[in-house]
Amino acid sequence: MKRTLGCCYYPEHWPREIWEQDAARMADLGLTWVRIGEFAWSRLEPEPGKLEFGWLDDAIEVLGRAGLKVVLGTPTATPPRWVLDKHPDMLAVDAQGRPRKFGSRRHYCFSHQGYLAECRRIVTLLAERYGDNPNVAAWQTDNEYGCHDTVISYSEAALAAFQDWLRAQFPAANGGDIGALNAAWGNVFWSMDYRDFSEIDLPNLTVTEPNPAHALAFRRFSSDQVAAFNRAQVEILRRYSDAPIAHNYMGRVTEFDHFATGADLDIASWDSYPLGFLEDRVGADAARQRRYARQGDPDFQAFHHDLYRAVAAVAPGSGSEAVAQSYPRSSSEAVAQYPRLWVMEQQPGPVNWAPYNPSPLPGMVRLWTWEAFAHGAEAVLYFRWRQAPFAQEQLHAGLLRPDSVAAPGFDEAAEVARELAEAPDIAPCQAPVALIFDYAACWSWEVQPQGQGLAYFDLVFDHYRALRRLGLSVDILAPTARDFSGYGLILAPGMMHMPDGLIAALQASGTEVLIGPRSAARDAHFTIPVPLPPAWPGLDVTVSRLQTLRPDMPVPLAGGGAVRNWLEEIEGSAEVVLRTEDGAPVAMREGPVTYMGGWGDDAALEALLGTLCNRAGVATRPLPEGVRLRRTGAELFWFNHNAHAVETEAGTLPAAGVLRERL
Ligand code: GAL
Repeated sequence: MKRTLGCCYYPEHWPREIWEQDAARMADLGLTWVRIGEFAWSRLEPEPGKLEFGWLDDAIEVLGRAGLKVVLGTPTATPPRWVLDKHPDMLAVDAQGRPRKFGSRRHYCFSHQGYLAECRRIVTLLAERYGDNPNVAAWQTDNEYGCHDTVISYSEAALAAFQDWLRAQFPAANGGDIGALNAAWGNVFWSMDYRDFSEIDLPNLTVTEPNPAHALAFRRFSSDQVAAFNRAQVEILRRYSDAPIAHNYMGRVTEFDHFATGADLDIASWDSYPLGFLEDRVGADAARQRRYARQGDPDFQAFHHDLYRAVAAVAPGSGSEAVAQSYPRSSSEAVAQYPRLWVMEQQPGPVNWAPYNPSPLPGMVRLWTWEAFAHGAEAVLYFRWRQAPFAQEQLHAGLLRPDSVAAPGFDEAAEVARELAEAPDIAPCQAPVALIFDYAACWSWEVQPQGQGLAYFDLVFDHYRALRRLGLSVDILAPTARDFSGYGLILAPGMMHMPDGLIAALQASGTEVLIGPRSAARDAHFTIPVPLPPAWPGLDVTVSRLQTLRPDMPVPLAGGGAVRNWLEEIEGSAEVVLRTEDGAPVAMREGPVTYMGGWGDDAALEALLGTLCNRAGVATRPLPEGVRLRRTGAELFWFNHNAHAVETEAGTLPAAGVLRERL
């Protein structure tokens, strides 16, 4: 399969007279895909039941005639005003109990049945009309579930659905076993026992923190609502169309389990805004933000490519509990069914929504595009074709300026298009190391951070960065993965609840495994297991006490590096492999399993992971700051995220440069 380019286009924003020129120019640029329609509901159905699909027929026809393939979005992220008038209680409600208003987008609660029925109706109309249109070659459901903090809603609809969800979690003949829930949650503490499921409220506006088991259950429920909402659309689209279905995920949005949603979809795509993310989401310190202000973080995009490749690998229809093998073995076996990863929106210039919005360093748009391809993407679409002179995103760059003159991103896209003509096809390749990412662990840490700002995402990302600084390509795996063959090392830091099946599969694999801190520390309902964690049969390590650390009080380790944020006191008969300067054990090992009882800083993680790679026979190649490698089945890519040239063994890497070696 060839790698392809595309763009996001809004025909409804532009006069009909320029559609043909736009389409011709897109084709001329070398684009294959055009995503349209995802915010167009008010122009498709301006009044209830008054359908105006003619312009969309026309737009699809114009694009198709130019040789472009359309990705058609369902418009459910932007219900028109009349939908709200019809369903005044469809709005999501924030933690303070305030409904969120009309006037932007994503103004709906995932649990509202009336809104769901409206969505089913409009999606059915679209699917009936375009399901066998030869120019519609893919679908996108909704737009960016979770954007603008929209997964969690404390509405009446959510309350009713949550109670039903709990009844199903604690089944009994009479519609739920409330005694089992009370016991599992520990509701005896503070007399929180319930007599019936109808007494259970949503966990907001409590006097002090709610029971963590209650809070976690609500997070699991909220995630399931997203999967169900998405599935309702997918079921309709599949009835009328054979075209693959995608959703466009985001950077560091963890409020719903993307593996569960991915199980219903054919393509995992995501929206990559490296400069916006650096300011807004990476959590880098000021010096790092300055250093990479015009390039973006060297690992953040890569991490999401790898994460969403794993989401894509969850087989359609397998469901979140099913075994998901995240990456096929080798190029030869797997090309026909490699995980379908796309970048549905790629930043092409300055955006409008981050605290600061610099322009990318010349070369970065090209680098980001190649980086996506290096991580397995089959398509990269730029957001957006032309900058809009009106409304919320008038200061968001497109490939074209509002006056249709090419913006700098246009030329870089053209350069990639030329390079692609010579490039090999997609060639998947298993990485030597794997990292398990668990959305439920994100929620568990948020429910109980134990120290200000401590987040599972950051812990996992620190491990990922350390692996990449060692020159490694990394596969991210779903927590449902059970086949670990081919990997030298598997990491599952911070995964607070580890299902028995996962532990057994990791043990059976005989692979080097790194867990901790905080791995296998809770049962499924957030209770501390006894014997004390980690709940890992055969590993004689006990976390006897733990503390969190002020950011300015890291604890130095013997041999260099430090532990920051999180430090456990660990004991047991396993071999101590790392100690603090004061001699307290920090990491212990038994067989191929290493337990790390603290959050290592960069130096500590690099040293620990370097040692484990050595044991596993995985070759490492420590890289200069800002330089990263990524291997596919056919190429070795070198990326330079620095604003200056760097000498490497592969030659000189120019500033913001990409070097491709054919293998
Ligand atoms: C994405 C969104 C697009 C657009 C873009 C701007 O989050 O899907 O519709 O708003 O951001 O960067």
